[in-house]
Amino acid sequence: MKTRITELLGIEYPVVQGAMARIADGGLAGAVSEAGGLGIIACGGARPEWIREQVARARALTSKPIGINVMLMDPRASEVAELVCELGVEVVTTGAGSPANYMKMWKDAGVKVVPVVASSALAARMERLGADAVVAEGTEAGGHIGELTTMALVPSVAAAVSIPVIAAGGIVDGRGMLAAFALGAEGVQCGTRFLTVEECGVHEAWKEKVLKAKDSDTIVTGRGTGHPVRGLKNKFARECRKIEMAATSGEELEGMYAGSLARAVAGDVENGSVMAGQVAALVTERGTAAEVIANMVREAEALAGRSLGELAELNSRRARV
Ligand SMILES: Cc1cc2nc3c(=O)[nH]c(=O)nc-3n(C[C@H](O)[C@H](O)[C@H](O)COP(=O)(O)O)c2cc1C
Repeated sequence: MKTRITELLGIEYPVVQGAMARIADGGLAGAVSEAGGLGIIACGGARPEWIREQVARARALTSKPIGINVMLMDPRASEVAELVCELGVEVVTTGAGSPANYMKMWKDAGVKVVPVVASSALAARMERLGADAVVAEGTEAGGHIGELTTMALVPSVAAAVSIPVIAAGGIVDGRGMLAAFALGAEGVQCGTRFLTVEECGVHEAWKEKVLKAKDSDTIVTGRGTGHPVRGLKNKFARECRKIEMAATSGEELEGMYAGSLARAVAGDVENGSVMAGQVAALVTERGTAAEVIANMVREAEALAGRSLGELAELNSRRARV
């Protein structure tokens, strides 16, 4: 399968494993890259020594390209930005802000830069700054989110830029991948789908919560702080919503998020922030990273060869290819 994304990133399949703070480590990223996708090590909140270790771990699993994600609101963002060059990773994705300050350094070092965007205006700005591609992430996604849905955002971003677009938010299988390509994408990024794979080291309690989730089981918290986050409903989320309704300032809200991801990572899925996307409802299997990627690509290609009538016929029988 050849797209501008596979060519640009030097990968076999245009499937990117999205960064997941405190979860997506070298073990997961290495497995995804070895399977032909692009694995990304999430560096939000991470110490530089941990990042070095995880890059080495991924390199031990694969000789194929890997990526690093820099959360720009992280106080250590500039330190991580420099590590990207020092460690020689092939791709950097960025979240929560503009990577303008680091763009020249990364481009000079030959790193491919792929910012995550939630609007066409930001996508166009990233292209002007020199980005190689963008991830257009819809509000269905798990983690930090924008307002627009994948369905509305992807065609809008694709119309606004000439660099390739990777769609994210609500994609777990070949149906979603094909839909994303029909909307203008040349690759997909998935987070929630990779939470339950064998190589993902997230706590078993978090995996079980994803596997059991129904379509209405996610909730957005943190709108009042300006940093909305989608996760699975639990005691923590319900408390957050209650406090948000009563709060009069963003500062009042900030405190309750401190340590919430760490609690969930440690397995406290009632009192921690269990981030996952709306599409958790469609994640009903575990599998391996390689199986996820191979099945997604196989299904998308099998569906792509059919007429709308044939697709409707499959749908009427609730049949999958
Ligand atoms: C648990 C979790 C943590 C995430 N952490 C980050 C992060 O640190 N940086 C980032 O850019 N995106 C982060 N994301 C977003 C993913 O990289 C990806 O874009 C998103 O999950 C795609 O939508 P999906 O969940 O519907 O597959 C996170 C998503 C999840 C589910």
